[in-house]
Amino acid sequence: MLDVAVADTANRAAGAAPAAVVDSRSGQWSPSSWRSRPVRQMPPYEDAARLSDVESRLRGFPPLVFAGEARELRRQLGEVAAGRGFLLQGGDCAESFAEFHPDNIRDTLRVLLQMAVVLNFAAGMPVVKVGRVAGQFAKPRSSDTERVGGVELPSYRGDIVNALDFSPEARRPDPERQIQAYSQAAATLNLLRAFTGGGYAALTRVHDWYLDFIGRSAQGERYRDMADRISEALAFMAACGVSEESAPQIAQTKLYTSHEALLLGFEEAMTRTDSTSGGFYNTAGHMVWIGDRTRNLDGAHVEYARGIANPLGIKAGPSVSADELLRLCDALDPRNEAGRLTVIARMGRDGVEKHLPPLIRATRREGRQVVWTCDPMHGNTVGSSSGLKTRPFGRIMGEIEGFFAVHRAEGTHPGGLHVEMTGQAVTECTGGTGAVTDASLSTRYRTHCDPRLNAEQSLEVAFLLAENLKAARRPSRESA
Ligand code: PEP
Ligand code: CO
Repeated sequence: MLDVAVADTANRAAGAAPAAVVDSRSGQWSPSSWRSRPVRQMPPYEDAARLSDVESRLRGFPPLVFAGEARELRRQLGEVAAGRGFLLQGGDCAESFAEFHPDNIRDTLRVLLQMAVVLNFAAGMPVVKVGRVAGQFAKPRSSDTERVGGVELPSYRGDIVNALDFSPEARRPDPERQIQAYSQAAATLNLLRAFTGGGYAALTRVHDWYLDFIGRSAQGERYRDMADRISEALAFMAACGVSEESAPQIAQTKLYTSHEALLLGFEEAMTRTDSTSGGFYNTAGHMVWIGDRTRNLDGAHVEYARGIANPLGIKAGPSVSADELLRLCDALDPRNEAGRLTVIARMGRDGVEKHLPPLIRATRREGRQVVWTCDPMHGNTVGSSSGLKTRPFGRIMGEIEGFFAVHRAEGTHPGGLHVEMTGQAVTECTGGTGAVTDASLSTRYRTHCDPRLNAEQSLEVAFLLAENLKAARRPSRESA
């Protein structure tokens, strides 16, 4: 069996399993040391031999991302931690095999680019763009089973594990699906790299990123006005001699990838040694995060994450205590490196002003250099009259406003936003200027898991953020 070691520019065969590294705090770590810890949210595979066959095939597959890219993301996140940038992280709740289509990938990218340019231009801040994409397949569930009528079946855990249909065959975890997820992630990332490096994402095309329905909407109008001003500024700069040719930042951008590191056998198989630094990297995504249901300190997920050198996210819901968060920081970021750790607060509109300040104060007291981002989705999920899960847009906006208010009061940097969104005109979250209602939810309700913002709602969020960031940057002038 070969393990593939990752250099920044090439792969080389290492021939043996990577050596373990020793962590001074809690003993020996290896890509598989999580296996000796209590593990939550892992699917019960029936055939251990098939599972291990799939994992060993994955170990021989090429990395999707390189260690050097993950290091560069970490550097940029270090800038965000220091208040000199903003992290925009967004994409599907769960990528699915059924929705895999180049148009869907392009449309999600377009909305992310539009959101980033709104923040970039209106707030005057560099924006680090990270997709929940090209690997965001595995889902934690609050219950192991789901009951419909009198029938109880295992819960759907994301397309990398089982299928959404409500039948015993569909819900049986199938290891082969990991191979399909890998291949979809590879193809998705390939297209994203082509779009972002090949001219599509050039700022000079800021007008081309309209989506048809966005062009006709209120947010589309707002966006078009801003795009006009950007084009004017670019024309002025070109006249001064600064053009796509002389300034590559105008012609190209970088979209990093991220996913929840949940299905640890898959993550382990994609973990490789980097021949440049000698460290271990998860090569299935630039950044990975630990979910709110798997962040227990002694559990398998924290054990896995502490040994990889990628930037890490940690979801923090209302139940996390300040002490717990500090211990997670110690475990995951023992050297306190800016950019290593992003705390993704998902407190809900009604919880943010109560639960966030103690966490911020504790990390500040300890001199922790974390990035604070707001996930206004996961604490605001409600049932609707149609029986579908939804997230009222007003609550989402309310949590974002609360997040900014808390940081204003604490004097800390509101570093980012983490959203579930899509470029499609879905009707999954109620409200927004497009006025999705409970009754219209079922018209285009396509998510495989949680309700996402549609393109128009995503832009509306970006404009709200831009206003808040602008205000946060100029408190003295505004109050003068
Ligand atoms: C998610 O991000 O899709 C998720 C499940 O979030 P959380 O862990 O915050 O519930
Ligand atoms: Co979700």
